[in-house]
Amino acid sequence: MNSLAGKRIVLGVSGGIAAYKAVEVCRRLMDAGTHVIPVLTNGATRFVGRATFDALASEPVRMSLFDEDDPIPHTTLGQTADCVLVAPATARVIGAYAAGISSDLLTATLIATRAPVVICPAMHTEMWEHPAVADNIATLVKRGVSIVGPESGRLAGGDEGAGRLSSPADIVAEVDRVLDFSGRRLDMGGLSVVVTAGGTREPIDPVRYIGNRSSGKQGYAFAEEAAARGAEVTLVSTVDRPGPLGPTVAPGVTVVRVNTAEEMAVATAEAAKEVDVVIMAAAVADFRPVDPAGVKIKKSDGVPAIQLEPTPDILAGLGASKPEGQILVGFAAETCDVADNAAAKLSGKCADYIVANDVAAENVGFACDTNEVTVLASDGRVRPVGLRSKRQVARAVLDLVMEDRADAREENQ
Ligand code: CTP
Repeated sequence: MNSLAGKRIVLGVSGGIAAYKAVEVCRRLMDAGTHVIPVLTNGATRFVGRATFDALASEPVRMSLFDEDDPIPHTTLGQTADCVLVAPATARVIGAYAAGISSDLLTATLIATRAPVVICPAMHTEMWEHPAVADNIATLVKRGVSIVGPESGRLAGGDEGAGRLSSPADIVAEVDRVLDFSGRRLDMGGLSVVVTAGGTREPIDPVRYIGNRSSGKQGYAFAEEAAARGAEVTLVSTVDRPGPLGPTVAPGVTVVRVNTAEEMAVATAEAAKEVDVVIMAAAVADFRPVDPAGVKIKKSDGVPAIQLEPTPDILAGLGASKPEGQILVGFAAETCDVADNAAAKLSGKCADYIVANDVAAENVGFACDTNEVTVLASDGRVRPVGLRSKRQVARAVLDLVMEDRADAREENQ
C-alpha cells in the first residue's frame, strides 16, 4: 500500500525526548513521496534543531501563529493538509487537542483541520497512566482520531515502562493506512461483524476461576479495524480494552461483556444470527467445573477434587448452523504441529478461515502487542502474515476476507 505519494502531511513535533525520532519519521515520509510541512512547538526545539527539519522536509519549519507571510497559518495548514500527524505527542498537546485549546501553531492546526489526525503519544509511564491523559486519549479515540502506541520499553533516564514512541515504520504505516481509508470508499461499509475477544473464566468458587493468558488485544484489534473500515461491529468480550482506555472503544464498536464460555456462547449466537462476518478470536475454555462451590473453598478443607465437564464449542456451533453467505473466521492457538492442528480445526469446525497462531513463539499470541499468523482458507490457500502489530494482523486477515468476498460476488454476477 502506498497512499502517501503526493500527499500534504503536517508533521507536528512536540517537546519530548522522542522528538529526535521524528527526524526519521520525516525522512521516511519524504522517501515515500509526501510533501512534509514540519510544525514544531517551542518545547520540541529543546530536543531537536529546526535546521534538521528545514534540511529534510519539503518546507521550512513553522512554529508561530503569527507568520508574517501568512496571516492565518493554522487555518491554511489545517485546510490544505491531507493528514496531520503528531509524533511525538506530549501530554500537553494531547490535553490541549482534546479540550479544544489552541495555544500554539500545532494545537491551532489540529483544531482547524478536518483531515484525519494521527497522534503518537510519548511520555513517562506515570504521565501516560495518569487518569487525565487516559481520559483525553479516550476522548480523541471516540472522535475517531487514530492513536499509535505508545510502546513499552526503555524510557529517558533509564526507566522502563509504557510510554515509548512507536517505531517510525509503524507511524508511517498508520499514516499510509489512514490516507488509504480517507481516499477510498470504506470497504466494510454496510457490513455487520461479530468479534469475540479475551479468555473465558470458568468459576471454581466465588473467588477463583479457570482462565487462560489471553489479553483480548487481538480481538479488540479486529473489532477496531473492522469498524475503521466502516463495519458495524459487536464485540463479545471477557475484558475491557487492554491499555489505558478501559471501557472506551472506537466509534462503530458495541461491546457485550461476558465471563464464561456459556455466556459467550449465548451472546455470540444471538449477535451472529444475521451478520456478514464472525471472527472467533476469543480463547474459550474447553472445560469448566461441573459444580462451582457457592462459598469460597477453604484451604483447611484439603486439596479440592474439581470435576470438569466440556464447555460448548462456540465456533463449531456457528459453523454447523452458518447462514448462507456468512464468513466464519476462527483461530487455532497451538504450541506444536501448528499447520496440521489448524487444518483439522478448519474442517472440523466448518470455518471459512482459520488463523493459526503458534502461541509458544516469542512476541506472538497471548498478551503481547505483536502477532505472527498463518491464515488457512477452506479452499486450501495458505497466507502467511509475518510478525507485526495485532492491528496490522487484523488488517491483513480482513484484507484477505474482503478480497475473497469481492471475488465471490463477481463470480456470482
Ligand atoms: N473455540 C470455541 N469454543 C470453544 C473452544 C474454542 O469457539 N469451547 C474457538 C476459538 O475461539 C478459536 C477456535 O475455536 O476460534 C480454536 O480454539 P483453540 O483453543 O485453538 O482450540 P480448541 O478447539 O479449544 O481445541 P484444542 O484446545 O484441543 O486445541
